[in-house]
Amino acid sequence: MSADVIDGKAFAAALKVGVAGQVNILKEKYGLIPGLAVVLVGEDPASQVYVRNKNKSTKEAGMNSYEHRMEPSVSEAELLSLVAELNHDPAVHGILVQLPLPKHINEAAVIDAIAPEKDVDGFHVINSGLLATGGRGMVPCTPLGCVMMLKDRLGDMSGLNAVIVGRSNIVGKPMAQLLLNENCTVTMAHSRTRELDAVVRRADIVVAAVGVPELVKGNWIKPGATVIDVGINRVEKEDEQGVKKTRLVGDVEYDKAVQNAGAITPVPGGVGPMTIAVLLKNTVTAACRQTGVEEPEI
Ligand code: GUN
Repeated sequence: MSADVIDGKAFAAALKVGVAGQVNILKEKYGLIPGLAVVLVGEDPASQVYVRNKNKSTKEAGMNSYEHRMEPSVSEAELLSLVAELNHDPAVHGILVQLPLPKHINEAAVIDAIAPEKDVDGFHVINSGLLATGGRGMVPCTPLGCVMMLKDRLGDMSGLNAVIVGRSNIVGKPMAQLLLNENCTVTMAHSRTRELDAVVRRADIVVAAVGVPELVKGNWIKPGATVIDVGINRVEKEDEQGVKKTRLVGDVEYDKAVQNAGAITPVPGGVGPMTIAVLLKNTVTAACRQTGVEEPEI
């Protein structure tokens, strides 16, 4: 049996349509146009692509997009001063500082300078604390997108064994909190986990977010399990003619996992497209909370 392939692209497209509908209602009913400011420091090619896509998607959803580009040599103080300005700008409801930042800038200091209610990435310590304690904060986009797809597939997840491979602040840790909120029994595995294969074999839900190409082997997947692959790794591979080519692979050995899983996200086209769609959704949520307007249903 081959797994159902979870189409993240289609899921994200539908969510974006829903967000555009929310924005329409906010404009018509309250004259409110949600605004997202994205700050890019330096010229990292991958970051430039992300920022371009965020800008385009924000506009397509009918929101205001404010792009701020800074030289790689910019000082931490200058960046903090821009963040302070955006914190005070009432037209800006969401602030995203694209990571990674140049080495001379303290990322944690910059993230924690963002007003928590405008932190649409959900990276601020206040927001991670709120997520951990059941409060109402901003939730990181990638794990929130994963949970939306899981809920759509599985419905009630109470009592399911969820194994998360990877303990990053951006994906692994918030993912654990979100799945706990869904009443899963959550195991966090990581690079030092012993007998990772045995841990993964118990999982009804596997979330791989470790950044190691194809670390999670296909034969570790319990028959019928749902597999969410957050990894995006560019690897070099020779084709049949011996020509070196690069291709994208996830953290899961897809070709084999697809034979065991009940459902699986592909790479690319799985989790990736959801991140921006959820970012737009978070910006609408932030705009509604900041202006005291009830968030329209999607
Ligand atoms: N760099 C890569 N992904 C992300 C993200 O989701 N948010 C931010 N701020 N930077 C990133």
